[in-house]
Amino acid sequence: MPQPITMAQRPDATGGEALYVEYCAMCHGPNGMGHGLLGRRMDQPDLELREDLNVDFVVLAARQGIGNMPSIPRGEVSDEDLNSIAEYLSAGPHEVAQ
Ligand code: HEC
Repeated sequence: MPQPITMAQRPDATGGEALYVEYCAMCHGPNGMGHGLLGRRMDQPDLELREDLNVDFVVLAARQGIGNMPSIPRGEVSDEDLNSIAEYLSAGPHEVAQ
């Protein structure tokens, strides 16, 4: 059974990528619940491999929650950190070893 993605698997990640791994990849990496549920309604369920994400949508989805994703409050991920994550995802698709 593959392990969830954590910083241990991606030690070279920095900036928005590192924050994504820290806060989002447990659900959005392979085997995660976000990955599984998005796979039911889109061809590319991995947020890092998508080319159609933009900053506003990612921030909105995270702050308000979307479908089965719980909202992520500022106490958990600051505006600054969420912006870095959103910019990282919007700049995709990224080549990531998984
Ligand atoms: C507790 C698990 C969980 C965490 C943590 C999580 N997500 Fe999600 N996310 C989900 C699930 C589940 C969905 C799919 C919702 C649905 O379709 O019902 C989702 C959907 C999304 C979507 C919508 C994609 C689309 O095209 O509809 C975005 C954007 C997103 N997440 C971004 C993030 C970001 C950024 C983080 C980290 C700050 C994050 N998520 C953390 C579970 C999670």
